[in-house]
Amino acid sequence: MKGPRVRTELPGPKGQAIVDLDKTYISPSYPRSYPMVVAKGEGMYMEDPDGNRFLDFIAGIATVTTGHCHPAIVKAIKRQAETLIHTCGTDFYYEQQAAIAKKLSDICPGDGQKRVFLTNSGTESVEAAIKLARYKTKRPLYLAFYNGFHGRSMGSLSFTSTKTVQRKGFFPLVPGVTHIPFANCYRCAYGQTYGKCDFECVKILEDVLFRGAVPPEEVAALISEPIQGEGGYVVPPAEFFGKIKEVLDRYGILFIADEIQSGMGRTGKMMAIEHWGVVPDIITLAKGLASGMPLGACVAPRDLMDWPSGAHANTFGGNPISCVAALETIRLIEEGLMENAVRQGQRLLDGLLQIQKDHQLIDRVNGKGLMVGLEVVKDKATKEYAPQERTAIVTRAWQKGLICFGCGVSTIRFSPPLIVESEHIDTCLQIFEEAVTEVEKEF
Ligand SMILES: Cc1ncc(COP(=O)(O)O)c(C=O)c1O
Repeated sequence: MKGPRVRTELPGPKGQAIVDLDKTYISPSYPRSYPMVVAKGEGMYMEDPDGNRFLDFIAGIATVTTGHCHPAIVKAIKRQAETLIHTCGTDFYYEQQAAIAKKLSDICPGDGQKRVFLTNSGTESVEAAIKLARYKTKRPLYLAFYNGFHGRSMGSLSFTSTKTVQRKGFFPLVPGVTHIPFANCYRCAYGQTYGKCDFECVKILEDVLFRGAVPPEEVAALISEPIQGEGGYVVPPAEFFGKIKEVLDRYGILFIADEIQSGMGRTGKMMAIEHWGVVPDIITLAKGLASGMPLGACVAPRDLMDWPSGAHANTFGGNPISCVAALETIRLIEEGLMENAVRQGQRLLDGLLQIQKDHQLIDRVNGKGLMVGLEVVKDKATKEYAPQERTAIVTRAWQKGLICFGCGVSTIRFSPPLIVESEHIDTCLQIFEEAVTEVEKEF
């Protein structure tokens, strides 16, 4: 595949037939942004059934780490499918499951061996983490951040707070979860300016919460994404997690780092939390772990993941095909893709910073490695959200052959496969700027 190419109305006739079938039979709860129909993928590109080709700067939302159908991943999957497709890891032992657990123990931050619970998805990794935290601490309460996203099953949904529509109609959720504002320095909840502030986003824990509302000795864990994903690609300042961890340690509260979107080399470190020099007690993974095969994990030190046989298990978690895809994904990340994420992430960031300078609608360009976002605002002085303009830009980019997505109130995110090359970055920037320029004229 050579470059983006859109030669029909979108969707084309074949794509429209699939959209119609889908609309009849598929749950309408999926939050699709626009009617993109995917027939096949190769490397950095996806093709629709009408032969239109799109440059993919979303990668199944940070999932297809090694690009679409990477030959090494396909080979590993094929080989495994011919040998053993499934047997229940809950009841039997097999090498692939033990091997990926050992590898995750090696690559997750923190000295000493860790243990791993393998899952099918992000939400299930979070369920494992919150159950483990409660089981080990024997404490009933939790802390989380506003605008955090942790999944949609009843347990993880109790922590998710990115959009009310995700929670509306589903109460009561798991009780005992208290949310506090995240360190979003562009929109500080306390009206402070980074550099001059006294980290009220951390001090609130002891000065307000633990003093008046939440007994810290009854809190099992705080869960946070190192970089908020669905909530708007928000990168907190360098001191943030170190300060948070200091407070948590004073009260024996566990720190769960939700690396489901930010982990697996995407930010230029194997786990994004390493940028803050903090070792979490529990790490949750999924999305990019197996290049698109369903696999998630909850990783914790041996003495923490110490619960009895039968306390937690599942049927499909750690499926052998997913495990070999994950082992191959990690090999590719270690053999160059993580370095590529640093290099190409900088190119993407620099290009978007230039677009920010040249365009009134674009502000708060931030990110690490290949997890980069920006805010679309009506006015940089007032920072008024511009969700309609945001959606118009994303849709226009798609019509020109570039896939990027919205998140948060009016953020646009870029999370391309880690195989991305300079020419893809340059094409992305060119199409994106064209879309911004056109939308600027229309609003
Ligand atoms: C940080 C984070 N946690 C959890 C989840 C939930 O993962 P899944 O959709 O696989 O359940 C997501 C999904 O977007 C996520 O980004």
